[in-house]
Order: sequence, then structure tokens, then C-alpha cells
Amino acid sequence: MRPMIQRPRGTRDFGPAEMAKRSQVERAMRDACHRFGFGEVVTPTFETAELFTLRSGPGIVDEMYVFKDKGDREMALRPEITASVMRFFVNDLSTQPRPLKLYYVGNCFRYENPQSGRYREFFQIGAELIGSKNPETDAEVIALAVNILRSAGLEDFVVRIGHIGILKSMVKDEIKDEKVAADVLRLLDKEDFDAMGDLFDARALPRNLFDKIAAYADVKGDITVLNNLDQTEATEHIKEVFDVLKIYGIEDCQVDLGIVRGLDYYSGMVFEIDAPKLGAEKQVLGGGSYTLSELFGGEPVFSTGFAIGIDRMMLAIEAEKPVEVPPALDAYVVPAKDDMRKYAFGMVARLRSQGLKADVDLMRRNISKNLKYASSVGARFAVIVGKEEMAKRSVMLRDMKSGEQTLVLADEVGSEIAKRIG
Ligand code: HAM
Repeated sequence: MRPMIQRPRGTRDFGPAEMAKRSQVERAMRDACHRFGFGEVVTPTFETAELFTLRSGPGIVDEMYVFKDKGDREMALRPEITASVMRFFVNDLSTQPRPLKLYYVGNCFRYENPQSGRYREFFQIGAELIGSKNPETDAEVIALAVNILRSAGLEDFVVRIGHIGILKSMVKDEIKDEKVAADVLRLLDKEDFDAMGDLFDARALPRNLFDKIAAYADVKGDITVLNNLDQTEATEHIKEVFDVLKIYGIEDCQVDLGIVRGLDYYSGMVFEIDAPKLGAEKQVLGGGSYTLSELFGGEPVFSTGFAIGIDRMMLAIEAEKPVEVPPALDAYVVPAKDDMRKYAFGMVARLRSQGLKADVDLMRRNISKNLKYASSVGARFAVIVGKEEMAKRSVMLRDMKSGEQTLVLADEVGSEIAKRIG
């Protein structure tokens, strides 16, 4: 026999049971976007590589799946979706009334070291609010993020809010070599202060800058930690964001001025959400405010957005409690004998037309094997079609949970099942 072909490392297959849970959670997350007035967009899975190399930063670019197409153009599988949405905005949506509130669900690709919660193909739901950088815009986007998480059923999570503007200008004002400045920010993102110290020594960068950065990045806690800092545009902005969030009923956010983010395009407020029950890969969401439109040939426009890792969300929700989904089938129709088969087909067609999830024996099994199958696929009821029952224009309705059987008029079996499943 030929060896089995395996799926690529870092990718997954999802079976029907897993997909039932994922779809249910995804639906709840989409509903939250609609409640906040965000409309769905879909962009291509691959783009010209330049879209991502322009500003995403080396962290992402090093992990990109890049390939030449048959026209010798350099393409990339999208490592994230923000750049695509902003390209779409510049191409076609820039005359739309603002703010433009868009959301998306899609797969992303990053050549990472796979582990639990970290994959090479993973799924995001994200949102971008285009056209403003007011504190209320940032608060609206954070409020949507929190609502999505709550709607999906996640209870235990920590929202950390920071501002990248000060750190970026601190680093860029004093470190003129752009690559070195980017390296400093990247090490800060990883909170790797030892490596950052080594880099400062190797490049003979001023030690007092290191201390200033480290002290600023260490400002963490409730909103009152900002009172110990000089009042700046950034600190006042964060305070206003917290004020609006409070009105929205979101009161337990933390300040974290050490948030740097793995992507390079942020310029203002940045935020992350962690699910503490997850291990190393506990960050379920990342986002912030940025400008990308100019870079893609449009006019400068401020935007704020975020993306949630759906795979990590599933792990986080299930670490709290199992996701309960309705049975895959409401009814499974079983012909008692061969000559009842056609009648069974008619019955399943009727149940389906009444909006029930219904299936019928296609394997020509006997009753007991059929009931075993019905139970293994999670059917809520079996509808047994027998000759004697037929004579009374009836079928036997079997509750697959209790095993209880009732004779029900064939014409009424659909409404009886609907009644019993509520
Ligand atoms: P990001 O932080 O790179 O931001 O990704 C967002 C979320 O995607 C992460 O918090 C994580 O939950 C999930 N994620 C990232 N990489 C992986 C992976 N390899 N496996 C599983 N999950 C992963 C962005 O992508 C930005 N586009 C967010 C944004 C939107 N900023 C503004 N607008």
C-alpha cells in the first residue's frame, strides 16, 4: 500500500462535531458585530506580497508563505486581514460615509513553530473602524471586542490597554538606525530585556534610554497608574477611552504601557486580551489604532481595529466549560422492513420540508442496527415505519434518550417532534 498522505504540519482538519461547536461560537461572534453596526467584508486569501511587506514588520514578513505565480508575480498567503481590508478601502470604499465599520472572518497563514494554540493556518474574526482616532472610536472598538468575547461564552479574560505612540517616538527619536529601532521594539514586544540590554551594549546605545523605556513599559495596573506620569496627549487619550468604556459598562480593563504588538503599523492606542486559562498562547486578541491607507496609495485615514484568534477562543471557552450544541439530527427514519423503504423516503422528505434535521436509512440495515446507528450519530428521535403502524396511518416515535416509544399519527409526527424539542 502507498503511505498515507498527511496534512501539512501546523494545519488541522475539523470534523462535523468540532465544526458544530465552531460554527455556533462563530455565529454568536458575528451577531455581536452586527449589534454594533459592523458589516461583513471578504477579501482574497492571497494578495501581492508587497501588501504585507510594506508595513507589517519583520516579525510577520519572516513567517509569510510567499510564492511566485505563473505570471512571475510575487504573491503571499495572507498572514492577517487588516492590510487587505485597508487595500479594499483604498481601492473601492474611500467614498463611503464614515466611520466605516467593517468586520471579517477568515483563515490566515504564518510559518510558525506549531504548538497548542499556535498553527500555520489559523482563523481570525476581526473588525476595523475606519475614519477616526477619537477616544470614543477606540472605546467603541474595545467594547465590540469585549462583547464578542462575552457573546461567545468566554468569562475569564483580561483586557490590557496601552499606547504605542510614546514608546515609538522615544525609540525613534534617539535611535536613528531604523533597523536597530525596530529590533528594540521587537525585543520589547517579547519582554526580552536581557537581549535588549545586549543590543544596547553592542550598539553603544545610551543606557539612560534603556532605563527610560524599561520604566515606561513597566507602567501596568488600574487607570490610576497614569496619575504618576506626566500628563501627555497619550495619557489623556487613554483616560478618555476608559471613561467611555465605563459608560458602556466595561470597568475592569488594565493599563499596560508595555504593549508593543508584533505588527509594525500601530501608531496610537494598542490593546490585547488574554485568557489566563490558556497556557503559553493565552493572547486571544490583539489590536489598536493605525494608519495604512496612505501607504497603499490612498489619502491618510485613521483606523482602529482588532483580530481575535478563533482557534484560541475555542480552547479558552472549552477550558471553562464544554460548548453544548443541539443534536446533529432531530429525527432518523427507520423502515421496519424492506417494503417500507419507499414510505420511509416520503416520511424523511416531509420532515425535512417541515424544517427538521432528518435522515433516513440508506444502508438497508435491520431495525436494531439502524437504532444503533441513530444513537451513534446523535439523532434525538427515531421514526420507525412499520406495516402494522402504517395500517393505522401511524409511525412509532422513539425517544433516543429515554428509549420511550409512542404511536403517533404519520401526519403529526413532524409537529410532535418539533413540540418535544421545543
Ligand atoms: P495579531 O496579534 O497578529 O494581530 O493576531 C491577532 C490574533 O490572532 C492573536 O491575538 C491570536 O489570538 C491569533 N493568532 C495569531 N497568530 C496565530 C497562530 N499562529 N495560531 C493561532 N492563532 C494565532 C493581527 O493580526 C492584526 N491584524 C489585528 C488588528 C486588526 N489590528 C488592527 N486591526
